[in-house]
Amino acid sequence: MKAIILAGGSGTRLYPVTMTVNKHFLPIYNKPMIYYPLSLVMLLGIKNVLFIVNPTDLETFKRLFRDGSHLGMNIKYRIQEKPNGLAEGLILAEDFIGNDNICYLLGDNIFYGHDLVKIMAEAKKEIEEKGGAYVFGYYVKDPERFGVVEFDEKGNVKSIEEKPKKPKSNYAVVGMYFYDNEAIEIAKRVKPSDRGELEITSVNEEYLRRGKLKVKLLGRGFAWFDAGTHDSFLEAGEFVATIEKKTGLMIGCIEEIAYRNGWIDREQLLELAKPLAKTDYGKYLLELANSE
Ligand code: G1P
Repeated sequence: MKAIILAGGSGTRLYPVTMTVNKHFLPIYNKPMIYYPLSLVMLLGIKNVLFIVNPTDLETFKRLFRDGSHLGMNIKYRIQEKPNGLAEGLILAEDFIGNDNICYLLGDNIFYGHDLVKIMAEAKKEIEEKGGAYVFGYYVKDPERFGVVEFDEKGNVKSIEEKPKKPKSNYAVVGMYFYDNEAIEIAKRVKPSDRGELEITSVNEEYLRRGKLKVKLLGRGFAWFDAGTHDSFLEAGEFVATIEKKTGLMIGCIEEIAYRNGWIDREQLLELAKPLAKTDYGKYLLELANSE
């Protein structure tokens, strides 16, 4: 399985902050927003990642992640000329994906929870073995802001709608999706929505029509932030700070995950820690390197 992380968009909901800086570089507490989705992909053991970025941000992304080899990964980039919607990301990734299955993530979505990786890994395995698509539902008070999934008592999806005026449930579809390779052809046939975008929800609707859309719920004990607004951005930062200070463990620390995954050795970890030495982040990496 390969991963696509969509990190383009205009960030208008964070204006004026994002008039000059792409939101994915903004700090959620002590690290750039984009580290969080990348870390989730890494925790799932996926080494091949494509970032979809705006033309103006390509060089900054490349400075941040290079070709990924310093993390033991293989990172590539594709430009999305205009924010034409999430489904366009799948089309732009066609060459990169080849015949593989797909893990698709939004660059401003932040997840936290004890069994999160286990749940996601189960979904990944199911898609790899049986095909189809997986989405994840999270209970929210304002479902009209999101994609909304409705399901029956057995957990079968009944409907999925993008930002409905009258939501059929309180379960938002979070920005993490697993697809088999069919998703690319399906995305190519999607027509623009009323807001003029190729919606990922239209791709999911097609899987539902084919009887191949599955949903897992992220229930109690999970935190999910779509950090694309002023309030959710701040909330996400406060949440990460609280958890990290309480547990002494970092969330979204890509160097740590690369090391624990065995993708880099101790020497490489020390090298990555060097420029960060003045920060608690750097000290955390040094402690990790010296702990085993
Ligand atoms: C997008 C999707 C929506 C999903 C949300 C999650 O919304 O279209 O279905 O619930 O991400 O963050 P957008 O950020 O484009 O408004």
